[in-house]
Amino acid sequence: MAFVNISATSVSQFSDTVAEDSKQRHVDTSASTTSEITSTRKNLSLQKSYKAFECANKWWKNTVIYEVYVRSFYDSNNDGIGDLKGIEEKLDYFKQLGIDTLWLTPMYPSPMVDFGYDISDFVNIDPLFGNMDDFKKLLRSMKDKEMKLILDFVPNHTSDQHEWFKMSVLRQEPYQDYYVWRSPKVYDGNGQPSPPNNWRSVFGGSAWTYNETRKQYFLHQFAKEQPDLNFRNPLVIQEMINVMDFWLELGVDGFRLDAAPHILEDEEFRDNPQAKLKEGSDCKEDDYSFWDPVFTCNSPGILDILTSFRNVCDEWSLKEAKERVLMTEGYLPLPQLMEYYGTCSNPIAHFSFNFELLGLTKNCQASDAFTSITRWLDALPQWCCPNWQTGNHDQPRIATKLGEDMIDIMNMILLLLPGVAVTYYGEELGMKNTEISWEQTKDPAGKNAGPGRYKLFSRDGERSPMQWDVSNSSAGFSDSGIPWLPTNTNYLEVNVKSEFESERSHLQTYTRLVSLRKSKAWLNGDLDIRVLCDGSVLTFTRIDITSGEGILVATNFSKNKTDVDCRVFQHVPTEENAALVVAVTDLLEYYNEGSSASFANIRLNGRSGVVCKFSVKSEASK
Ligand code: GLC
Repeated sequence: MAFVNISATSVSQFSDTVAEDSKQRHVDTSASTTSEITSTRKNLSLQKSYKAFECANKWWKNTVIYEVYVRSFYDSNNDGIGDLKGIEEKLDYFKQLGIDTLWLTPMYPSPMVDFGYDISDFVNIDPLFGNMDDFKKLLRSMKDKEMKLILDFVPNHTSDQHEWFKMSVLRQEPYQDYYVWRSPKVYDGNGQPSPPNNWRSVFGGSAWTYNETRKQYFLHQFAKEQPDLNFRNPLVIQEMINVMDFWLELGVDGFRLDAAPHILEDEEFRDNPQAKLKEGSDCKEDDYSFWDPVFTCNSPGILDILTSFRNVCDEWSLKEAKERVLMTEGYLPLPQLMEYYGTCSNPIAHFSFNFELLGLTKNCQASDAFTSITRWLDALPQWCCPNWQTGNHDQPRIATKLGEDMIDIMNMILLLLPGVAVTYYGEELGMKNTEISWEQTKDPAGKNAGPGRYKLFSRDGERSPMQWDVSNSSAGFSDSGIPWLPTNTNYLEVNVKSEFESERSHLQTYTRLVSLRKSKAWLNGDLDIRVLCDGSVLTFTRIDITSGEGILVATNFSKNKTDVDCRVFQHVPTEENAALVVAVTDLLEYYNEGSSASFANIRLNGRSGVVCKFSVKSEASK
């Protein structure tokens, strides 16, 4: 049995150091390292086992979190932009899928420079999305359906239109030090100021913008319209705690904490060193990933601030005997990411988003997926619950990045590994990124890059309207005729209605997979994960010995047909046809749901997968 460990993931945000054809941003899980390792270990047997992770005892540990990108989900008032009423109208859709938890992207008042992540009032609703009554009504309807609601919490920055910033510019107390202000490094001969240091914005260019009124630079790690708050000022921490209290009192179930590692920067404002770029990299000096953000990302002290946010959740959890959760977003190497969990006695995040699966690229092998999965599980502290994510509003969709034939395979992995699963809207349908021209580009990360390079950075492609049906040219998303981003032309086939009606579809497979999460095998089962068939098949079992229930997942990452002998797994029955097929990928021709399969010989087409249920071999028959 070989236990292969891979050292820390190298991660860069909005990186342009990866191949364009992989359409990958944000995450660089060292593709080259992975494939080197793949080739040297081709003949090794890759196998690991993990004890069950107590998923059954808390609501958030076994939930599927569905990310609703509010602007793009469903437009109830025909202005071309999704809204809160739209989400409420679609709540039954989630119930049909078996999804109980929604994470909403920011719906607060905002000038929409970064589409809601530039907030001008943390405790209100942007009229584009509705009003506070709509929000309360949505929440009530969700509670009636026993659903949970997670909000996006964006403490790192505000909009430059926030009152705090306007007053800070004027040096009005107590707002004068609410933001990170710094005097110019020097003035040139013409009296022109230069920025305090070399820090770059995640969206490209200097992270400093000069303010004529205050005669100082302010820091913005994202767009210049998103000034960073100064978390060395205790008043700012208190403001953010007040924001959390406001929403928790209304009854929300937790927060997804945006851009967590960016909250604090170096106190001495030291220059960031240059990053080690891959050979042939097209990275430019003004790009974020040209620099190693050691002095702008994950600075000492961050964990204390996050702990104060966790304490707020815990107070509310105790007060109302219902657990409120904190999930942190951070693109960091694994050892640093794991620190966001805190310790067993002083926990911080309920979970820190796991982006490992997002690091897979086109033509990835089963061993790459094995590595991504086990690397995370091996790093995870014993007392923590795993989580998995295959997409989000900052990442290209699975169908675009890995290929349409990988949609069901990735959903099988996402939904049947132990722990929380996070699904980005439309991934259950197999939606693809939409081609967006330079003229149509809206995302500041794309616009800053210019017409020649916008495709490397723009996130518009994965934010196109949800594809509901074929009732109009925006796939039933809006009756406006002009949705805020163009609809993908594949909506005639890829849409909720058609996929529900067809016997076999990504949506049908997704729904079957979600329902398996109620089984004892999924809730309590140990995990045994292996790469079989000369590196081509990723296979795992979830077995609960107590109940005798088992699940087998076999996914073929290669393009060739193969038969897998799964009798290598412990406790599986060896008699013929002992496995009941419960879900298949659309490319699998050998089985249908309800047919039986034999562990000695699981038959797979290229890029296909199957999920089977079985009764664990009894001790007596061994
Ligand atoms: C997070 C969000 C991203 C946003 C950025 C700035 O990374 O996911 O969409 O642009 O923070 O708020």
